[in-house]
Amino acid sequence: FNTLDKLDPQGKRILLRADLNVPMQDGKISDMTRIERIVPTIRELADKGGRVIVLSHFDRPKGKVVPGLSLEPMATALATALGKPVSFMHDCIGPQAETAARSMKDGEVLLLENTRFYPGEETNAPDLAAELAKLGDVYVNDAFSAAHRAHASTAGVAGHLPSYAGRLMEAELSALDAALENPEHPVGAIVGGAKVSTKLALLENMLERVDVLVVGGAMANTFLAAKGYNVGKSLKEEDMLDTARQIIAKAQEKNCDLVLPVDVVLSEDFMAGAPTLLAPVTEIPDGWMALDVGPETVKLLKAKLAGLKTLVWNGPLGVFELPPFDEGTNAVAQEAARLTKAGSLKTIAGGGDTVSALRHAGVLDDMTYVSTAGGAFLEWLEGKILPGLTALSTTLERTIPI
Ligand code: 3PG
Repeated sequence: FNTLDKLDPQGKRILLRADLNVPMQDGKISDMTRIERIVPTIRELADKGGRVIVLSHFDRPKGKVVPGLSLEPMATALATALGKPVSFMHDCIGPQAETAARSMKDGEVLLLENTRFYPGEETNAPDLAAELAKLGDVYVNDAFSAAHRAHASTAGVAGHLPSYAGRLMEAELSALDAALENPEHPVGAIVGGAKVSTKLALLENMLERVDVLVVGGAMANTFLAAKGYNVGKSLKEEDMLDTARQIIAKAQEKNCDLVLPVDVVLSEDFMAGAPTLLAPVTEIPDGWMALDVGPETVKLLKAKLAGLKTLVWNGPLGVFELPPFDEGTNAVAQEAARLTKAGSLKTIAGGGDTVSALRHAGVLDDMTYVSTAGGAFLEWLEGKILPGLTALSTTLERTIPI
């Protein structure tokens, strides 16, 4: 890709695709991470005299103007994070947006309204992409977390303007590269989550690439059941048992060490503070459900981590939102953090719940890299081609003289 090293922003209108799709609770931003992580790119561009026009989607308004899904509150949050004013325009295309963009001064920042208020955003309509392109002299994509969407503002617009990857995009891509494309071996992956069905492609791709694959979360119950163990009333997918068996067989064939829990923390009720029972996975009683990995599993996973140079983490090991079922995830996360801080392990984590789980364990800042992406991180782990990235690299091909 072209990076910002190749761009002289001075006096240029820079159309910057960010991902300001931040979590909100009761009308307030509950997690500023995505806003904070876009700041270095905006600051660099503005400090060098660029006129930064920020584009983003927010939530899923489905092509309609939904006032509750306006990006306006993000302008204030962005201004606070940047330490400079950010103006807001109640549209992302049209004459008013064009005038606002044209009347900007060097170093100013303007945020446009939610791109998903237009149906053409998600269909990648050529006319919307062309309208967006009118606002800028160049396009910078810094929204890795939206790069799995082939939308007008993430892909289409790159066909109209000289295009560059922003600093956050660069950081995300180099972390992912260090995790799976060119990692230091042995490489391990911790894959947690509720359903094998939603992580199937990911598990299959991981098998090909990692030396150790730890399966945690409720997904592990399906694997345990596939091996013939009674899992009581634990969440499991009956229709995925054969698939789980195939994954186990493939792991053996590929020489990938597939690690499942050896003991579990059980409960009869799915609630915080419910009475618990600890059992080896071979002795799960009827009527009980596994909600976390047990201390023997934690010991086993710590031993596995000690042998790794690189770890990719996606998904918690248990129901970390309901203490005490957070203990397994906390202990393993803390060990990964310790090894990472000691310099023997590179830990790259990402995906919605993972970030919350690591924050809950108090180790979010100790990882080598934490991706801001949810779905895009998953698709990348699945080995899929991300359209937002393809759009940037095709632009590069177009700008290289033949
Ligand atoms: C995300 O939060 O993963 C990105 O902003 C993409 O959002 P989407 O899943 O609504 O496309």
